[in-house]
Amino acid sequence: MLVCHCKRVHCRVIRDCARAGAGSADEVGRMCGAGTGCGGCKPLVEKLVEREAPAVEMAKRSSMVPAA
Ligand code: FES
Repeated sequence: MLVCHCKRVHCRVIRDCARAGAGSADEVGRMCGAGTGCGGCKPLVEKLVEREAPAVEMAKRSSMVPAA
């Protein structure tokens, strides 16, 4: 789904940014440009980032587990 119409950014790109470490709409904007036009999509970008937080946290934890 196209989330940011100004910068033509899809939701999967925003999820990828969150998984790569973006923790807010502003950080996503710096990574891919979403939300840096009119700003109308920023609440949705923020929501997508929040929705990815559990998966990001789980990935961080699993990467901290030493290999057996
Ligand atoms: S729709 Fe995303 S900045 Fe305008």
